[in-house]
Amino acid sequence: MAVASFKLQFSYIKSQSNFRPALSKYCSRSGRIKCAATTPRKSYNITLLPGDGIGPEVISVAKNVLNLAGSLEGIEFSFNEMPVGGAALDLIGVPLPEETLTVAKQSDAVLLGAIGGYKWDKNEKHLKPETGLLQLREGLGVFANLRPATVLPQLVESSTLKKEVAEGVDLMVVRELTGGIYFGKPRGFDTNEKGQEIGYNTEVYSAFEIDRIARVAFEIARKRNGKLCSVDKANVLEASMLWRKIITALASEFPDVELSHMYVDNAAMQLVRNPKQFDTIVTNNIFGDILSDEASMITGSIGMLPSASLGSSGPGLFEPIHGSAPDIAGQDKANPLATMLSAAMLLKYGLGEENAATRIEMAVLDTLDRGFRTGDIHSFGHKLVGCKEIGEEVMKSVDSGAGYTN
Ligand SMILES: NC(=O)c1ccc[n+]([C@@H]2O[C@H](COP(=O)([O-])OP(=O)(O)OC[C@H]3O[C@@H](n4cnc5c(N)ncnc54)[C@H](O)[C@@H]3O)[C@@H](O)[C@H]2O)c1
Repeated sequence: MAVASFKLQFSYIKSQSNFRPALSKYCSRSGRIKCAATTPRKSYNITLLPGDGIGPEVISVAKNVLNLAGSLEGIEFSFNEMPVGGAALDLIGVPLPEETLTVAKQSDAVLLGAIGGYKWDKNEKHLKPETGLLQLREGLGVFANLRPATVLPQLVESSTLKKEVAEGVDLMVVRELTGGIYFGKPRGFDTNEKGQEIGYNTEVYSAFEIDRIARVAFEIARKRNGKLCSVDKANVLEASMLWRKIITALASEFPDVELSHMYVDNAAMQLVRNPKQFDTIVTNNIFGDILSDEASMITGSIGMLPSASLGSSGPGLFEPIHGSAPDIAGQDKANPLATMLSAAMLLKYGLGEENAATRIEMAVLDTLDRGFRTGDIHSFGHKLVGCKEIGEEVMKSVDSGAGYTN
């Protein structure tokens, strides 16, 4: 099949490009660039946070692809590589060094690999790599996490679901990222009245937090197929009752979007029963964490899924949804396509550089079309390659402009 026929598969990205004006940073940045008619080249500062496990492997490959796609569009990047997660713990003793956050905040966009690993699993909470990631998201103020899950025709056989169920799935999970139970207080360990040890957390959302994530989700749904499903647990949790109330009230501002509500347990079931019923899903931090991982399996591999985390100002954070995969780290087995597609989201959502983003998206499709597969998406009749080799193949596709028409 020709690459061009797969362009539609990235409709979620294309169709949402109009979403950017809702976020002031993109308007001002792209406006500034367009006005700089005397400047022959555009340049951006990108913070690279390779992190742990397969993070450095996938970031190294994605960086090359980003550079090449950018250079073909007259864009220059300067990269600042900074430690985060376990790498930062080993180097500096904290999972998010101040300098890393400062550099990240001052850059135009942040590209993260992954954090975590067995080595730090037994650390105290404030010294866990995962704490660094939460601090980074909080520090950058990125409250809206966009996680697309699209089943590409080339990979439909890799899905764990039957072909007829998986084929054509194209959904977006909009996850609230800086509130809810991961941040709520009080939290901690204590002893109950029976003298038993307890651990506790707080699921808390303000009306403001719900309203702002809901607005992002309505805007996205509006630019997609106009269907928004809000996922909560309003039959049990007060925070979810407020969630449902605020989102229901907001619906009148978006009459062109069909809003529905679903309990999270049903949503988890429906995602594997009939995922095509979903277009855009909006949900809280913890439900979004779980449901987006579930959605990722429909697409064939967690190694294929990018994400973007956006705030109302400052740089966005772009990262694959997978973790540091310590089981395959250092073996050149990682699939770097999710990180490359995250780099494409960085170009599109973070910098407003749509053409360079499309170059990467089309090159990824072309590489799959030419039969190259890493182990996680490999099936009979395709060429099994490692992280570096698939990176080189994507570079060839970017270089040749395969499937890219502008
Ligand atoms: N955003 C992040 O950085 C992030 C997200 C999730 C987990 N983690 C951390 O990562 C570590 C491992 O967590 P986990 O095992 O639950 O999840 P994981 O995503 O790292 O791995 C789950 C499975 O998917 C495979 N996998 C993941 N990414 C892949 C890729 N790009 N190519 C091929 N296979 C891939 C792994 O080999 C593993 O079998 C933990 O320390 C966890 O806290 C970090």
